[in-house]
Amino acid sequence: MMTNSSAAAVQTIPNDLEPYWMPFTANRAFKKAPRLVTRAKDMHYFTADGRKVLDGSAGLWCTNAGHNRDPIVKAIQQQAAELDYASAFQFSHPKAFELASRIAALAPGDLDHVFFANSGSEAVDTALKVALAYFNIHGQGSRTRLIGRERGYHGVGFGGISVGGIVSNRKFFGALLAGVDHLPNTYNREQQAFSRGEPEWGAHLADDLERIVALHDASTIAAVIVEPMAGSTGVLASPKGYLKRLREICDKYGILLIFDEVITGFGRLGYAFAAERYGVIPDMITFAKGVTSGSVPMGGVVVRKGLYDAFMQGPEHAIEFFHGYTYSAHPLACAAGLATLDLYREEDLFARARKLESKWYDAALSLKGLPNVLDIRMVGLTCGIDLASRPDAVGRRGFDAMTRAFHEQDMMMRSVGDTLALSPPLIVTEAQIDEIFGKVAAIIRAVA
Ligand SMILES: Cc1ncc(COP(=O)(O)O)c(C=O)c1O
Repeated sequence: MMTNSSAAAVQTIPNDLEPYWMPFTANRAFKKAPRLVTRAKDMHYFTADGRKVLDGSAGLWCTNAGHNRDPIVKAIQQQAAELDYASAFQFSHPKAFELASRIAALAPGDLDHVFFANSGSEAVDTALKVALAYFNIHGQGSRTRLIGRERGYHGVGFGGISVGGIVSNRKFFGALLAGVDHLPNTYNREQQAFSRGEPEWGAHLADDLERIVALHDASTIAAVIVEPMAGSTGVLASPKGYLKRLREICDKYGILLIFDEVITGFGRLGYAFAAERYGVIPDMITFAKGVTSGSVPMGGVVVRKGLYDAFMQGPEHAIEFFHGYTYSAHPLACAAGLATLDLYREEDLFARARKLESKWYDAALSLKGLPNVLDIRMVGLTCGIDLASRPDAVGRRGFDAMTRAFHEQDMMMRSVGDTLALSPPLIVTEAQIDEIFGKVAAIIRAVA
């Protein structure tokens, strides 16, 4: 006989997994052994059959305030009942302005205007377009080159994959944007293995920008875009002094510097933005994910006053920037964003992340010496663990670890190739940090 709870479980398991083509997923393997969650609260997901799964990755680096927090849920519910949508072009609603002010107040220096998008990918493409348009308006239309970095991830738009440096994200998609160069990636295992926080070695890699300038001339280069911590390729922290050096070289040649803070924004490295951690002020910051703690899609770009002002010319009835999205500053996202920022402030979650850092580093490094562990690196509340690849199947050990974590250890974490990536919600407790790394240790042994 079917009990009440098993009847509920049956209702929440879809009867056909086939039609959904899942993003960045091994579809066939998933559909053979699905990893489905139906509910979440704070640090945990719940499955249809009642398992409680510890969230070691803040969803996809986004649920920084934890899951289904009451104030965020209420704000979204209220907003849905009050104003579902307002045209984003030529009209708006008050919460869009309120959220822009709140984000601008969190951003460093004179980054004080916010352009809203709906994802990190859109935020990146927006920032690149602002850079190109700015130089056009400024009478320097020859500045069209964009500089990214090897192993960088800037989402999946054509702009983002062009400046991005992940081979698989690029090689299937043709010629991409013309006029893009890449800085070398900042990771070197020989020099940096088992670093606590920012590696000592590697600031000089920023000097490669001088080489690119010498090759193309500064008059052709619009912007450089980098992540202060590259999350998607396995937690690569900026070496000490690297970002400062990049800023200096950009200043020397009049090149705009964009920090892609889609992951590092909203507390992941212990500050509202990583720019603050490093004391470096970029010209633009892209954000997404944590702005609503993952609850409603939203992204955007914070720009310096001078950039915004440069656009504000010509007849006042004329549109100044031919760019935007139907759902820019969507009312539900703005309501969620405001409630999320309130929570961050009330619970002092950015400072909390900062205080937990050393505990997090100690717990992570306790895994040193386990089978196949080649490197463990941490910065803020993130951790990347490189495992040796199986000789015949690169990525298999990482994949097995991720699936075993879910099915056998009741934990969600990311794997990128054979690198495990961890980034819990910022409400994680010290006991849960031990629990996370205890589970990871068991998984690493299981996939040995
Ligand atoms: C640094 C960075 N930029 C952009 C993106 C893309 O964001 P989205 O998936 O919301 O388009 C990501 C996603 O992880 C990211 O880490």
